[in-house]
This record gives sequence, structure tokens and C-alpha cells, in this order.
Amino acid sequence: MDASILLALRDPAGVPFYPVVFQALYVLTWALHAAFVLLALGSMGLSLYGTMKQKTDSHWKILTPHLIQTGKISVSILIVLGVAPLLFTQVIYDPNWYVANTLSGMWVFIFIYTLIVGYSMYYWYYYANKSSQGGGKLIGLISFGILVFCGILMHNFAVTSIMPNDWMDMYAPNGVVDTSGWTFNIDILRLIFMVSLSIPVVGIFLQNYARFLSTRENFSQEFISHASSLGTKLSVVGLLLSAATFVLWMIAIGYLLHPLSLATVVGVVVLLFLSAKNTNSYITTGVLVIVALLISALRELIRYDIMGQLGYSIYDYPVNLEIPTLLMFLSTFLVMGGVGVAYLLTMAWKVGKTQGIFDGSKDIWVNKLGTYTISIMVAWMVIFFGWGMTFLFKNIL
Ligand code: HEM
Repeated sequence: MDASILLALRDPAGVPFYPVVFQALYVLTWALHAAFVLLALGSMGLSLYGTMKQKTDSHWKILTPHLIQTGKISVSILIVLGVAPLLFTQVIYDPNWYVANTLSGMWVFIFIYTLIVGYSMYYWYYYANKSSQGGGKLIGLISFGILVFCGILMHNFAVTSIMPNDWMDMYAPNGVVDTSGWTFNIDILRLIFMVSLSIPVVGIFLQNYARFLSTRENFSQEFISHASSLGTKLSVVGLLLSAATFVLWMIAIGYLLHPLSLATVVGVVVLLFLSAKNTNSYITTGVLVIVALLISALRELIRYDIMGQLGYSIYDYPVNLEIPTLLMFLSTFLVMGGVGVAYLLTMAWKVGKTQGIFDGSKDIWVNKLGTYTISIMVAWMVIFFGWGMTFLFKNIL
């Protein structure tokens, strides 16, 4: 692949801010997306095991619906959080993203519809399990399979996008143009590594779950230690499996001795040690966040290197500074997003920590944050539409 082709595929309008900022935001937001992908797959997978034990085992009777609920919420969060890295990748790596979407066009369509069907079936599974214990096994299993398939499709898009040297062969195999959109590429070690992480993620989630509920009177000590030791087992076994596949993947692509890869290995070992001891799962979660960021940075490094060897550097992307857009983005992301998420998290924390029923209207912080969130949202809507209308009329009148 010639660099001139890649450069010609860039947006002629340039990028609205310095590319390194988009790159950093890509790494951050993909890590967030991955966190909820892994929690969704892990909790849903474990809940399916729970449906088989739920009728006879009192611990699984409590745990299974909670896991189903966790997975259900995580899918919605992963979808929302998937949009952010999608936007950043198409700003700085638009040649890659659009070529992959063209070559795999059919899979892109299929992705959207399978995600809708898979997530709708998840609700079916949720309601079936709610109405009868152990119910919805088959529907849950199909929904799980579909959501894993969505992950495999995402993997195909990511892998195809970093194979510029093979794009011509995919587009016109043996010189015959193939416009079917059925291009499909898999890097099996990378995929197994990514998906295997859902086991330690649900394990550490269970440790947090047990720690969080331990202050409540309506959960027995026996149940808490059961959830906690299950979490420890899952995180230890899962981390060993993920570490092994990570090393194999790194050897296969020749990155094992790269400082970022070594830092990830160290991070995983620390994680293994902390989750095996399980003294404070909140600290373990902090380390997990760092490891997730390292993995996300490594994915970006692999892509950056591949493109660099072809003469494409995101740092050379023409910059066309657009400060108002940036201010709008940052205030939306940090101010509205930050206050809104703080409001929801504060409320969720207090609901869980209160014995009996929590009355948000009597809580000073929940009240304050709720008022701020609504006020900021109203102001945001006025500015967003006011700004848009002003420019629209200015341009057409
Ligand atoms: C159940 C649904 C989904 C699952 C299981 C899933 C899973 C994954 C996985 C495993 C990867 C990493 C692939 C790799 O690096 O090999 C990934 C990447 C990604 N996902 Fe998702 N995903 C889902 C839905 C979504 C949605 C709805 C969006 C967007 C709205 C999204 C946006 C992205 C983006 C932008 C990347 C990075 C692509 C790249 O770097 O080239 N994902 N996803």
C-alpha cells in the first residue's frame, strides 16, 4: 500500500484539533467501552450457569437475577460508550475505518440488526427469569451467542482496518473486483485474549459486589463470602488464562518485549496478586482500570506502528482549529456528562448503602446533583439548538 493512497483517503477538511488529543481520547474511551463489553459478557455468561443452579441453591437464587440485571445494564452502557471511540477513530484513522466498513459492508448491516435482536432477546431472558426461577435458559443462551457474535464482528472491523497491505487483495481477489461486502478477518489469539478478559472482569465485579453488600443487613454473611470467594476463583483462573493468551498474542506479533507489553504483564501479575488476596477489591478495580488503559494503548500502538511503516502518521494530519466546536464537545463531555454520571452514581451508592428504603428527596447531595444535572441539561439544549439555529439562518437567509 502506497502512503499517497492513504493520504488521499483522509478528510480534506483536516481535523478540528491536535490529533494527539483525539488519540488519547480514543485510548480512554475504548478502555471504557471494553470494560462494559467484558462485564456484560462475563455477568451474562455466569448468569446462564446460575439459571441451572437457581432452583436448588439459595445463593444462586439471589445472585442469578443480579447478574442478569448487571449484564442488561452493561449492554446499554457499552453501546453508548462504543460511540465515542468510533468517532475518534474515524477522525484520525478515517482511511482505515471507512475502508474496513466498505469491505465488510454486509457485516456492518448484520452487526446492527444482530445487536438489536440480541439485546431484545436479553430482555426476554430477563423477564422469563423474573417470572420463573431458572426460566429463559434457551433464550438467554441464544442472546449470549448473538452478543458474542457482535464482538466477533467488531473484531473483524478492527482487524480489517489495520491490514492496509491486504486491502487490494480483499477488494479485488485475483484481479476480480468483489463488491459483496463479505470480507471477514480474524486474529484468533487477539480475539480469545479480548473475550477471555470477561472472566476476570466478572470475578473482580463479584468481589466488589460482596464488599459493597457486606454492610447491608438483608444479605447473610454466608452469601457474601460465597459471592466473594466465587469472585476470587473466577478472577484468578481468568487472569491466568488471559495472561497466557496475551503472551501468545504478543509473541505472534513480535511485541512481547515492548515496554507497553511488559507493563501490561506486570499489571496483570499485580492484579493476580491483589485479586487472590482480596483485601480491598476497590483497589484491585483501580489497578484493573490501569491495565485496561494499557491494553487500549497497546492496541493503538499496534495500529500506529502499522500505519507508520506505510508512511501514514496521524500527527501529520492537517489541523484546522475549530475552538467553538471543541468547547461545545468538552463542556458536553466533562460538565454535563460528569455531573450527570456523578448524580447517578451518588444515588446508586446511597440506595445500596441505606438499610430499608432510600428517600432521595431528603438527601442533600442527591438533591443538589439532581438540580444541577437538570439545569445543565436545559442550558445545554438551549445553547445547542440556539447555536445551530443561529448558524443555519445566518447561512441561508
Ligand atoms: C454486544 C455488542 C458489542 C461487543 C461484544 C463489542 C466488542 C468489541 C470488541 C471485542 C472489540 C475489540 C476488537 C479488537 O480489537 O480485536 C471492540 C472494538 C470496538 N467497538 Fe465494540 N462491541 C460491541 C458493540 C459496539 C457498538 C454498538 C459500538 C459503537 C456504537 C462499538 C464500537 C467499537 C469500536 C469503535 C471499537 C474499536 C474499533 C477499532 O479500534 O478499530 N462496539 N468491540
